[in-house]
Amino acid sequence: MKKILHVCAEFYPLLKTGGLADVTGALPKAQIKLGDQVRVLIPGFPAIKAGIKNTNIVKNVDTYAGHVTLLFGYFEDIGVYIIDAPHLYDRPGSPYHDANQNDYSDNYLRFALLGWIASELACGLDYFWQPDLLHCHDWHAGLTCAYLNLKQSSHHAKSVFTIHNLAYHGSFNRYHLSQIQIPESYFNVNGLEYHGQISYLKAGLFYADHITAVSPTYAKEITTPELGNGFEGLLKTRSEQRRLSGILNGIDDEVWNPTSDSLIAARYSKRKLDIKKTDKYELQREFNLDVESNGPLFCVISRLTEQKGLDLILSLLPEILDRGGQFILLGSGDNKLQQAFSEFVNNPQYSNKIAVYFGYNEELSHRIIAGADVFMMPSRFEPCGLTQLYALKYGTLPLVRRTGGLADTVIDSTDENLDKKISTGFSFIDCNEDGLRYAVNRAFQLWQTQQVWRSLQRRAMSQQFSWQDSARKYQQLYYAISRKL
Ligand code: ADP
Ligand code: GLC
Repeated sequence: MKKILHVCAEFYPLLKTGGLADVTGALPKAQIKLGDQVRVLIPGFPAIKAGIKNTNIVKNVDTYAGHVTLLFGYFEDIGVYIIDAPHLYDRPGSPYHDANQNDYSDNYLRFALLGWIASELACGLDYFWQPDLLHCHDWHAGLTCAYLNLKQSSHHAKSVFTIHNLAYHGSFNRYHLSQIQIPESYFNVNGLEYHGQISYLKAGLFYADHITAVSPTYAKEITTPELGNGFEGLLKTRSEQRRLSGILNGIDDEVWNPTSDSLIAARYSKRKLDIKKTDKYELQREFNLDVESNGPLFCVISRLTEQKGLDLILSLLPEILDRGGQFILLGSGDNKLQQAFSEFVNNPQYSNKIAVYFGYNEELSHRIIAGADVFMMPSRFEPCGLTQLYALKYGTLPLVRRTGGLADTVIDSTDENLDKKISTGFSFIDCNEDGLRYAVNRAFQLWQTQQVWRSLQRRAMSQQFSWQDSARKYQQLYYAISRKL
């Protein structure tokens, strides 16, 4: 049995901006079921403190980032360490930026402290619980690996750094080095230097004992110049040293399950698939879409960012709507994308055919996944993607670009794959309008034969992406790296 500490900045259901939270909320639960001792370390953001009220003080510590109190409490079965430092973390909204989307100017300090406390826990900060393995997520926790390296004579812990998204580097001015107590010698190509700055992501990539990406395909893609973000050289080397691998995310069955989901209008299963019609009808009514329409209802649930390829959807929307399709989007982020989608909604030509909801709405995301027919995710790159997994589970056929985790989880409905009875959705390769058109055409074509559509839905719903499998793979990895010197 191992003592594992997850170091992260989000945690479902208390604080979530994207899939990272889904992972840090679900993976510990699955690992506890496997018998490991698992805890989480997270900054004391307001939502975390409000969600875990019953805490004990582990220690009061004076740090380079001021006075902080380390708290410990339970969220369900998961033990959570909270870094209580109101001067750094007590800010409303996103954990990373203010209401105008500007990163907080002291982010270097806020997330350095997260890594520093994590490394102190490895060195015995909590007398009663000392982790053997620190599992660090994304750049927010990257500095943990550098601090562990710095303090290697004071602990025996190993580290795993998981890349959820290589596009966010956590880069800060080098003059902060001394403030965060990292020696100048670490500011090196063979260290945490990246283009003249300190990169917390690179600290994770360089100093971790092992790196994982959240899908096998993404683990390969990031060793190439196209998707390596400038880290491909380092990642290729680490891969050749067998220090980089891909482990796919899973689905939290307690949260995403059409047979038991209390947030949807009507619950259904593979055998009672007819009931899904009620979810579609209720969704159409809620958003004033034509309930008489016989066309497929396409949907998107996403952060509105360049990564997700939503501009491709914009260029194909007139065709989708003119062919009798409907479209609904739930998303928040980029203003230009919001405006572009709004123009369609305001165009009388498309009234009762398209609806958008800008903002973050967990409950609505369940109603949309249950009610729609096709789930669109034409991402430029996608480390794993969770929403397409939820869509599969709800029989809402995913239509995705074949990249990263999308390539690992969705099988295109080509004639050959249909014959072999292995297809589960639609996918395309070329990241342009024609690529997307190919997949959309295929969806419209198969929609004509509802019997085929049904069999696709059933196959999609039968796919297994359980956290138990992923947790087992992490467990094997932890044991393997503990044995390595
Ligand atoms: P990413 O982490 O890149 O955003 P994922 O597909 O891994 O992509 O995870 C996204 C998660 O965030 C899913 O749980 C999805 O349902 C949720 N999500 C994204 N946008 C919204 C939104 N506007 N409202 C509610 N949930 C959202
Ligand atoms: C990131 C990625 C997404 C992945 C999620 C959880 O936000 O963009 O593909 O599913 O992390 O690992």
